[in-house]
Amino acid sequence: MSTKEHTKELVYTLPYNHYVDANIFEEEGKKIFFKSWILAGHTSQVEKEGDFFTFDVAGQPLIISRNKDGQLHAFYNICPHRGTKVERSEEGNKKVFMCSYHGWTFHLDGKLNKAPNFETTELGAHSCMTQVKLEVYQSLIFINLDSEAPSFRESYTELVESLDRYTFLPSLKKVRTRKRIIQANWKAVVDNYLECDHCRIAHPAFSKTFDMKNYHIDLHDNYTCQYSGLVNGSTEEPARFFWTWPNMMMSIYPGTGNMTTSQILPIAPDQSLAIYTYYFPSDQLSEEEEELIKFVDQVREEDFELVELLQTGFDTQAFTRGVYSPSEHGLHHFHKRVKEAMK
Ligand code: FES
Ligand SMILES: [Fe+2]
Repeated sequence: MSTKEHTKELVYTLPYNHYVDANIFEEEGKKIFFKSWILAGHTSQVEKEGDFFTFDVAGQPLIISRNKDGQLHAFYNICPHRGTKVERSEEGNKKVFMCSYHGWTFHLDGKLNKAPNFETTELGAHSCMTQVKLEVYQSLIFINLDSEAPSFRESYTELVESLDRYTFLPSLKKVRTRKRIIQANWKAVVDNYLECDHCRIAHPAFSKTFDMKNYHIDLHDNYTCQYSGLVNGSTEEPARFFWTWPNMMMSIYPGTGNMTTSQILPIAPDQSLAIYTYYFPSDQLSEEEEELIKFVDQVREEDFELVELLQTGFDTQAFTRGVYSPSEHGLHHFHKRVKEAMK
């Protein structure tokens, strides 16, 4: 094949400026993160009345709380009086939320309790912290900042069907969480998850454990599923690695019920927050489960190092975009989805 013919067949990635440009980063916030279902947490974080946690999506501070009637609520963590951030802690249990500026207080569902400096509580839209859509699926709490968005189940119908096979999911408990700042664009972290061409070189332990000759990446509308059996064939069940649009990854390994989730949250064009969480049937972990955590942690650290190295190349004059190998089709799929959302 001549060089010319070969060049014709190359398929190009998203331009590298999409990984460094502040305007594109801001636009992604509005067109992707303000419109998609985003994993916020797990119901075990808000088990009792008054339990809450705070969570930021692309610069939008939110509160997730459990009300007196047992219902979960999500709302902006912003005071409707003058715009102050209300709750400053990451989690806790409260009877009311109080704004520290002029002392307005709010019920657990975000509705105004008292506005001491006002003669009336008839404040229209200002009588409640702005509500956000919330849905629970398999004990995972998802939120959507777009009040017009179709439901989670409608948006991820095929994924829901696929995950329903894991009947143990709703009974898992959140056992451990780690947070790590990654010096890379959020898409670079997702890109890394969506292909396994790098596995043989970067993940020696992973490549010895799983059958790399039969490693599959299936594409679906709003998610991908990668799966592979164990090399030692000790179980029929493969490991499955799901990515869901736009920024959540979920892995389920063979063995006793388990799940790990990763949320990749954009902070800056070249910085992301990764929150990864382990779920097991009990918080008393067996030796095998502790080993699984170590294994997953190791693979992640190997990836984060690579992704940070990758980010250093995006802002140079060397190239303007990359090329996909045929087995980087998951990555290509994600980039198409990004382009579609950014139209
Ligand atoms: S800004 Fe919150 S009470 Fe005034
Ligand atoms: Fe990797």
